[in-house]
Amino acid sequence: MTDHSSPTLAQCLAQAQTLGMARLDAQMLLLHSLERPLHERAWLLAHDTDLLSPAPQARWQVALHRRLAGEPVAYITGRKEFFGLMLAIDARVLDPRADTETLVDWALAVLPALSQRPGLLRILDLGTGSGAIALALQHARPDTQVWAVDASEDALSVARTNAAQLKLPVKFIASDWFSQVDSEFDLIVSNPPYIADADPHLAALRHEPLQALISGADGLADLRRIVADALTHLSPSGWLLLEHGFDQAEAVRDLLTQAGFVQVQSQADLVGHARCSGGKKPPK
Ligand SMILES: C[S@@+](CC[C@H](N)C(=O)[O-])C[C@H]1O[C@@H](n2cnc3c(N)ncnc32)[C@H](O)[C@@H]1O
Repeated sequence: MTDHSSPTLAQCLAQAQTLGMARLDAQMLLLHSLERPLHERAWLLAHDTDLLSPAPQARWQVALHRRLAGEPVAYITGRKEFFGLMLAIDARVLDPRADTETLVDWALAVLPALSQRPGLLRILDLGTGSGAIALALQHARPDTQVWAVDASEDALSVARTNAAQLKLPVKFIASDWFSQVDSEFDLIVSNPPYIADADPHLAALRHEPLQALISGADGLADLRRIVADALTHLSPSGWLLLEHGFDQAEAVRDLLTQAGFVQVQSQADLVGHARCSGGKKPPK
């Protein structure tokens, strides 16, 4: 007998699309409601005439409403894939963005030139949030030692859980940028807050922690602090690589040059915006 109260999976996706939801978001939320791995989109296509039974249907309705209210998919599913690693994510941390993989790619590209030094290379991730950047680097380069800093104990708790889950030996420090950091590093990376505190785009980000997003009247307050203090925490010829807003590259390159960095340059993200800028500490 057909259960007329249960929609098919195809009907669920069509309902979400009618309500204006992106197809990829709807597919991930439906997989989450079905308690299946989030990457199994092919499975959904192959089972599009399956009926959604009551328990997954209840989860689907909740997920649908939360997403339509603007909550990131990662907070609803509690998971996000970043640089091939599955991270636990919740509203205590920024939802890691695909654009941030540009910073990880760049960091991995500068490491071989640094590898001629004796001993383990030392890397510092400032403002680690979920641990996304630090964990991606430690996973890709197990021959390095990665430290990660955040001012938020909540964020550090999420990052430590992810490190334990992934069995990655990142060391975490509670610190206001460099204030509790006393060593030198070969590479410092950071995706700090960089949105101006009156930016109209903040309304769309209302579910994410404000301390992960805003940075003074022009969005550059934290980038200024990091650039100003980074040279004293870098070893000679070490790199500082920073993510910033799509329209902040010139300002960040100016900050780096004025602070004394050399080889100052920017890197484009997936859509071609100059999304990261960095520079090298001069050799001794
Ligand atoms: C834009 S989020 C980046 C999170 C993560 N690195 C990522 O890329 O997904 C910025 C992070 O910086 C942290 N933060 C903000 N101000 C800080 C400060 N003064 N010292 C250390 N961390 C800070 C926030 O708590 C947040 O986790």
